[in-house]
Amino acid sequence: MELINVNGVSKKFMKDGKEFYALRDISFRIEEGEIFSVLGPNGAGKTTLLNIMMGILIPDSGSVRIFGKNAGSSDVMERIAYVSGEERFHWALTVKDILNFASILYGVSNKKGRVSEIVDFFGLQNVFNSRFEVLSTGEKMRLAFAHAVIGSPKILFLDEPTLGMDPDISIKVRKRIKSINKDFKTTIILTSHYMKEVEFLSSRVAFINKGKLIDINTVKGIKRGYPDLERYFMGMVGDEAA
Ligand SMILES: Nc1ncnc2c1ncn2[C@@H]1O[C@H](COP(=O)(O)OP(=O)(O)OP(=O)(O)O)[C@@H](O)[C@H]1O
Ligand SMILES: [Mg+2]
Repeated sequence: MELINVNGVSKKFMKDGKEFYALRDISFRIEEGEIFSVLGPNGAGKTTLLNIMMGILIPDSGSVRIFGKNAGSSDVMERIAYVSGEERFHWALTVKDILNFASILYGVSNKKGRVSEIVDFFGLQNVFNSRFEVLSTGEKMRLAFAHAVIGSPKILFLDEPTLGMDPDISIKVRKRIKSINKDFKTTIILTSHYMKEVEFLSSRVAFINKGKLIDINTVKGIKRGYPDLERYFMGMVGDEAA
């Protein structure tokens, strides 16, 4: 079933006194249950696109419909959640405080039961009473996911979920993303500039560069069409993939 319809989205920003297209005429659809990636180099327009899909940013033209409704409408906002690689909570709050508060914020019916279910699922039992400041990077990330899914969102948006993490933690985070998709049946949309991450996680990929949708395909299909892509993402090839 179609969940998200991005139709002809364009967005301009000003840079050095001149207007430029951060996104130009982007269209695609996302099915329920997918892990869908937006792949592209720095500055491609990934975060801008994600913010427009979440209804935080208004496009200059085009539209985004989610569950058949406009992105940004309260009906939609209630059913989506967001995590970025830089998720932060107040240093003095404990895991318990943060999750209890989230359960109230999201209007969870069985608050205690849900908090303990989520704590178990994300392996946060040992740090339940610990303050945010003492958590390891991996624990902080698990907490960010726990916080995002406690209200059972239908869609989870992830902006560069493993940015700056060491390889061991990145692997764990990716596995966690897969299990959220599978066990909670959450549709996941993520941005990344790691080819390997996208390949591990997602069935379909929108490859964007300089605000343009270059291709939308499986990772294999994109690699076939753009054999230089892997080198390109390692920063060894200039603008040739554009
Ligand atoms: N509010 C803004 N005002 C002006 N320019 C902006 C604004 N937000 C983004 N941009 C510019 O739009 C372009 C796309 O930015 P965006 O953050 O969407 O890229 P990205 O693909 O997420 O990059 P990264 O991989 O570095 O996160 C960049 O050139 C950026 O400088
Ligand atoms: Mg970004």
